[in-house]
Amino acid sequence: MSFLAEAIGRIKPSPTIAVTDKARTLKAAGRDVIGLGAGEPDFDTPDNIKQAAIKAIESGKASKYTSVDGIPELKAAICRKFKRENGLDYKPSQVSVGTGGKQVLYNALIATLNPGDEVIIPAPYWVSYPDIVLLAGATPVAVKTRMEDGFKMKPDMLERAITKNTKWLIFNSPSNPSGAAYSRAEVKALTDVLMKHPHVWVLTDDMYEHLVYDDFVFSTPAQVEPLLYERTLTLNGVSKAYCMTGWRIGYAAGPEPLIKAMATLQSQSTTNPNAAAQWASVEALDGPQDFIPKHNKIFKERRDLCVSMLNQAKGIHCPKPEGAFYVYPSCAGTMGKTAPSGKLLKTDEDFVTELLEAEGVAVVQGTAFGLGPAFRISYATDTKLVEEACGRIQRFCGNLK
Ligand SMILES: Cc1ncc(COP(=O)(O)O)c(C=O)c1O
Repeated sequence: MSFLAEAIGRIKPSPTIAVTDKARTLKAAGRDVIGLGAGEPDFDTPDNIKQAAIKAIESGKASKYTSVDGIPELKAAICRKFKRENGLDYKPSQVSVGTGGKQVLYNALIATLNPGDEVIIPAPYWVSYPDIVLLAGATPVAVKTRMEDGFKMKPDMLERAITKNTKWLIFNSPSNPSGAAYSRAEVKALTDVLMKHPHVWVLTDDMYEHLVYDDFVFSTPAQVEPLLYERTLTLNGVSKAYCMTGWRIGYAAGPEPLIKAMATLQSQSTTNPNAAAQWASVEALDGPQDFIPKHNKIFKERRDLCVSMLNQAKGIHCPKPEGAFYVYPSCAGTMGKTAPSGKLLKTDEDFVTELLEAEGVAVVQGTAFGLGPAFRISYATDTKLVEEACGRIQRFCGNLK
């Protein structure tokens, strides 16, 4: 018998972190590697946000424990954000702040799931959703979307997946890994289904809310269907839009009893999120927002570059997503071909391994996100490198026999 807990056997290390680590190791060994695996902006945290943290440290405000699920100033800033940007009314007692969106998601799932409970997760999905559900002893129910539908779950797919055991739908728009974002009408079509099933709650992960292109308008479920407010947890954070992945601040708002349970759990694990990072987050949410459209202009150019170049690669088909900083091309047209090393490509994992080997481009296989054969490219890296990497992918695909 293993000394390790059974629960740990149910989960695996994050494949996106694994690819990033592998690219880093190869680079350190002198290989010319372009890493397109990491899900974080290449831009630095804006200066006013850094200064807010420095001020908090120098004035002693960051020296002590804070209240477990967030300082009152940050909770107030989060309430203002929800009102201003989403038209949602939340009180500070309905807000929970944690060490990144990932901890807040973890708290919510661990605090609510029992063995036998089911959680609906549209695929392709962010890798942490099913693993946290499994850690809780519950059952992830993946609903495979179609590339023809822009990787968006249709209402009939949701309807078919709901059972009496369904506890949550995890909804993520714009999506990691596909970049797909649901329009207001598409969100409404799904909330209409949820209205027929009052036992199902929705955990909406709005982490990429601000990263949308071509005049796309973001919508979140509780805003689109106010009657769902009482069974919605709206999750967000500063990591992506504010270029603060290293600061580790995420938050969610929802019904008070759930928020209280999440705080109890957090009080027995990490206690409060980093105090200086909380003060920085107040500035992020309340301060100037003008750098966001500037970043988005660059992200959009990179997205368009990727889509155009990848669609010229033999055997690759790349849809144009509405948001986030990912594209999710299909590599179905390369399956059954032979790589320069002589290896036959049978899976998308073979494709990404051989691509890294032959051309030094690190991407993540689609099966890690529950839908293949495909791969995810994060274009949150220097435009020249994105262009060089797409050129190498074209060459790799052109050399397949
Ligand atoms: C869809 C999605 N949700 C949540 C997170 C968590 O963000 P963080 O824990 O860095 O705040 C990520 C990060 O990659 C993500 O892609």
